[in-house]
Amino acid sequence: MNTLQELTLTRPDDFHLHVRDDAQMQAVLPFSARQFARAIIMPNLKPPVVTTALAAAYRDRILSALPDALKHRFEPLMTLYLTDDTAPPEILRAKNSGIVHGVKLYPAGATTNSAAGVTDIARCYAALEAMEKNDMPLLVHGEVTDPSIDIFDREKIFIDTVLTPVIRRFPGLRVVFEHITTQEAADFVAAAPDTLAATITAHHLRYNRNAIFQGGIRPHYYCLPVLKREHHRQALTRAATSGSKKFFLGTDSAPHPCALKENDCGCAGIFTAHAAIELYAEAFEQAGALDRLEAFASFNGADFYRLPRNTARITLRKTPWQIPERIDFAGDMLIPLAAGEMLGWKML
Ligand code: DOR
Ligand code: ZN
Repeated sequence: MNTLQELTLTRPDDFHLHVRDDAQMQAVLPFSARQFARAIIMPNLKPPVVTTALAAAYRDRILSALPDALKHRFEPLMTLYLTDDTAPPEILRAKNSGIVHGVKLYPAGATTNSAAGVTDIARCYAALEAMEKNDMPLLVHGEVTDPSIDIFDREKIFIDTVLTPVIRRFPGLRVVFEHITTQEAADFVAAAPDTLAATITAHHLRYNRNAIFQGGIRPHYYCLPVLKREHHRQALTRAATSGSKKFFLGTDSAPHPCALKENDCGCAGIFTAHAAIELYAEAFEQAGALDRLEAFASFNGADFYRLPRNTARITLRKTPWQIPERIDFAGDMLIPLAAGEMLGWKML
């Protein structure tokens, strides 16, 4: 039987990406810009990107950090960081800027640099109403933060206590449930109106929670929302490969210096930008659904965000290659996902 040796796709977009800032950004941005035409840029800097003016300045820094060969080939799609104090006029400014494509809800304390996030969603109703009116998508980190709730249940409970009421109250608001990790989230999105979509990471398609504890504690497999049980991984794979337009690519590639991951209190975040489309290709191939990769990676997200589909193409070849053990990260060391392992597909 002939197996596929080459795969040509419309250039994909990454609808959830952390590029950090300054020298760290310089180190990681080329990995994404080489593969993707556009990326939704997360606003959880220190301090967070809470205004359109800050988003515009961050966008300029991203564009200047691009190496010459990638300049004019990569477009950062900026987001604002929602706080209890985000006011409706800021939403209007964001919309009118043309550079802000979403507003991100981090429940306060849910994850890296989320301390300034939302303490109670009801405090954001005026902002959400302005977003609904002005057609500005809400991007959600879907986990409750109540420390008494088991960390593996936080996404499921977020659906009932935050997401469902928001969708009911603002039926016209487009919402992206970011980096879903559970069967409950996949089922919820599939059954919801077309105003709700979800991104899925490559690492949540590739691993279950055993990866964090394989022979010892493995900090490079720790992210938030944390990896879940195998049946959840299988449900995410079914959703991603289902052909449904509601699911699309968002890597959540989130670099941290190695020393801050291999630490007494290690940071959450997995870096996948070095091999993002290849990691997705492997997951789709294993599911027997390579023919569904293009819609997931290149069409569904653009359509949901009402952006034109890309026209350029990329080619992946079946050529085994070894992922580097480490990557330079502005003088620190960055350990990429699957460091030192072989991957079957390589983008040319
Ligand atoms: O694992 C994560 N890392 N989850 C997030 O939500 C944030 C991200 C980061 O910024 O490092
Ligand atoms: Zn993220």
